[in-house]
Amino acid sequence: MCQEQKGFTIWFTGLPCSGKSAIADRVAEILREHNLKVERLDGDVVRKSLCRDLGFSREDRNENIRRVTFVAKLLTRNGVVVLTSFISPYREIRDEARREIGDFIEVYTKCPLEVCIARDVKGMYQKALRGEIKEFTGVSDPYEEPLNPELVLETYQESLDESAQRIIDFLKKTGYLDHNF
Ligand code: ADX
Repeated sequence: MCQEQKGFTIWFTGLPCSGKSAIADRVAEILREHNLKVERLDGDVVRKSLCRDLGFSREDRNENIRRVTFVAKLLTRNGVVVLTSFISPYREIRDEARREIGDFIEVYTKCPLEVCIARDVKGMYQKALRGEIKEFTGVSDPYEEPLNPELVLETYQESLDESAQRIIDFLKKTGYLDHNF
């Protein structure tokens, strides 16, 4: 019988355009190349399906994270590697996700606001700065930095591949992945 894969959740948190989705996608690709069962849960996708009724108030953002936590917990306990990418701006609800999921690796994509604004992949910062989007994280809504994340990725000064490799190295060091991965 082949060895059971151990499930865990890699929880990316950070400002819009700080690199969460890009790095999560890259890590997912690497893990899939090694035949691991992997699932991605991404804010932009989930908010069009499971959480389509939610907005961006504190209550709604927390409800978004609660539902995602529920799904991530089920997948994790069934041996799937889950990579979530949500701004998840509130510390308290991230800590709740950690407690619920158990095998939880919090990854903070740290990037100065000016750099995120310069990237502005979807043009949303410009809209928010013009006042056309309310409660936009980093502009008119808060982001609470993690106090004790497992990893901080300084995405303004490391490449996508470097960030992805740091996650793989961490997973090997902590025994989530085999040493010969
Ligand atoms: S979270 O705060 O509830 O964790 P989530 O990651 O699901 O947010 O969704 C963020 C995405 O929603 C952003 O990538 C952006 O495309 C979109 N968005 C729309 N309005 C806002 C807003 N007011 N603040 C942040 N993101 C917004």
